[in-house]
Amino acid sequence: MLRTHTCGELKKENVGSQVSLAGWVNRRRDHGGLIFIDLRDRQGIVQTVFNPAISASSLRIAGEMRSEYVVRISGEVALRPAGTENPRLPTGDIEIIAKEAEILNASKTPPFYINEEVEVDESLRLKYRYLDLRRPRMKENMLLRHRIIKFMRDFLDARGFIEVETPILLKSTPEGARDYLVPSRLHPGEFYALPQSPQQLKQLLMVAGFDKYYQIARCFRDEDTRADRQPEFTQLDMEMSFIDEEDILTLLEELLTSMVSTIKPEMRVVTPFPRLSYGEVMNRYGTDKPDLRFNMEIKDLTDKVSDSDFAVFSSAIAAGGRVKGICAPGCADYTRRQLDELTRTAQELGAGGLVTIALDSSAGSLEQLTADMVKSAAAKFLNLDQIKEIARCLEAGIGDLLLIVAGDNKLASTVLGELRREMGKRLHLAEQALLAFAYIVDFPLFEKDEKTGRLETTHHPFTAPRDEDMPLLDTAPERVRARAYDITCNGFELCSGSIRIHKSDLQRKVFKILGYSDEAIEERFGHLLEAFDHGAPPHGGIAPGIDRIVMLLAGEESIREVVAFPKNQSAADLTFNAPSPVTEEQLAELHIRLREE
Ligand code: AMO
Repeated sequence: MLRTHTCGELKKENVGSQVSLAGWVNRRRDHGGLIFIDLRDRQGIVQTVFNPAISASSLRIAGEMRSEYVVRISGEVALRPAGTENPRLPTGDIEIIAKEAEILNASKTPPFYINEEVEVDESLRLKYRYLDLRRPRMKENMLLRHRIIKFMRDFLDARGFIEVETPILLKSTPEGARDYLVPSRLHPGEFYALPQSPQQLKQLLMVAGFDKYYQIARCFRDEDTRADRQPEFTQLDMEMSFIDEEDILTLLEELLTSMVSTIKPEMRVVTPFPRLSYGEVMNRYGTDKPDLRFNMEIKDLTDKVSDSDFAVFSSAIAAGGRVKGICAPGCADYTRRQLDELTRTAQELGAGGLVTIALDSSAGSLEQLTADMVKSAAAKFLNLDQIKEIARCLEAGIGDLLLIVAGDNKLASTVLGELRREMGKRLHLAEQALLAFAYIVDFPLFEKDEKTGRLETTHHPFTAPRDEDMPLLDTAPERVRARAYDITCNGFELCSGSIRIHKSDLQRKVFKILGYSDEAIEERFGHLLEAFDHGAPPHGGIAPGIDRIVMLLAGEESIREVVAFPKNQSAADLTFNAPSPVTEEQLAELHIRLREE
């Protein structure tokens, strides 16, 4: 071993010990004759002191050391002289009186500071990710990720689950995204698809009798990256036999709450997790992944304004639409520019416009509000009573700003949901240390694609319909409810799952409703249907997204901060420069000829 201890573990109790340490030079300070090297490894930082009176040759070597050099230092642990202790460092009571030193490897000057928390361009961080990962924040995120995954494994192992690995080279498993394809050398013109999730495989494992399965599973989806989306990401993929919705949700609530209380006890979780229906959250928050850390609920104002002459409202209502609003507390003094910005956001999301009503805070109360205290382009079309009525409905008071959208019901909700999110962020309404989990249930089994008019599955085609809705499959499939559930937290979808179809006739029927021909069903899903005819047990499961969980527990705003080697916004790996061209020989072996674009 090149070392006897790690840098972070040395304390008062080690005083007098002879130790050897190895690590990176975090900082070098020359103090007239003495040289201090702060040595860093994964476990921490410790101060070493080079003194000419103890070893002149070591002092000379220390003089050559620079930031990020890899060095080995041996010496004796000593108490720091009184008054020079560093209470901010776990090793701050002691220092190493260096007797020997060796440079194991030199280092170029790093392209950014590693020992200081400074803003660095993300492309540079990703190009030199191995240096970025040396920085304390990233190191902590990686350690947190490790602890979370270990907790999940231990938790499930203790409850009789077994981890089974499933293939990466496989056939397309539809989860709604584009597949990554891998050309086959041995089968010219044919392709594997990387799994979007191990969905069908875990169902086959249930048929195999592995009644409690989990896997830390890598999933691949060729979709546009976002702060909470990577082209490859990790799920805690789970499946169980002979269970129902309640079993899964109870297990997940226990997993998530005990994980937080063990790993991040300073974070607060509200239990039991509230259970909200899809219809309810869409109406109240305009999204199926609401941030429940603050209220600002969307309210339907249609009845309150149905007799107004305001064309924006009356024409929307006449066209079968709704008028809905939210209240932004304390924002009555928003400037024209700020209001224009919000209007632009609403329009970008598809709204015709945004009606804003500012309630001047110079009135003592809503009751004392007079017409001249209302600032709104709509003020001349609405009487004071109507405005007060709208304000009451939105639970607004003086000093508040009302944001109102008129139009198609779903669109109005979605736009206001986005404005709610934006205002919540601007006004810092969400408590940072709170994790507001919720179950979202009662999803429809199918959704109509706005563009094609075709039915698509809300989750995936393997989700079971509710028993009582089964007859609707033939008559009104869009009204069938799914036995599906999501778990959301602070505005993100964390987990998604369902009870599955386990009989081939029902599965076939769902594929038919989705528009698959008999041949396509056979070609793409024949293996699953065949398996269902060989004694498939009733089963269901769920898949929490690990990257998103780590992101929330780390207090980060992007999952890129909790993935060791993430792709950038255009799905490229900047450390390796992937994707990249390959040689003619490689292409020829794969029977591929590139076409000029
Ligand atoms: P779903 O597609 O909803 O369900 O994914 C489950 C969870 O995985 C995470 N997730 C992602 N995380 C990062 N980047 C992405 N591109 C990404 N896509 C999804 C989310 C999400 O809630 N097979 C089903 C699960 C099941 O039914 O058991 C599935 O994959 O946190």
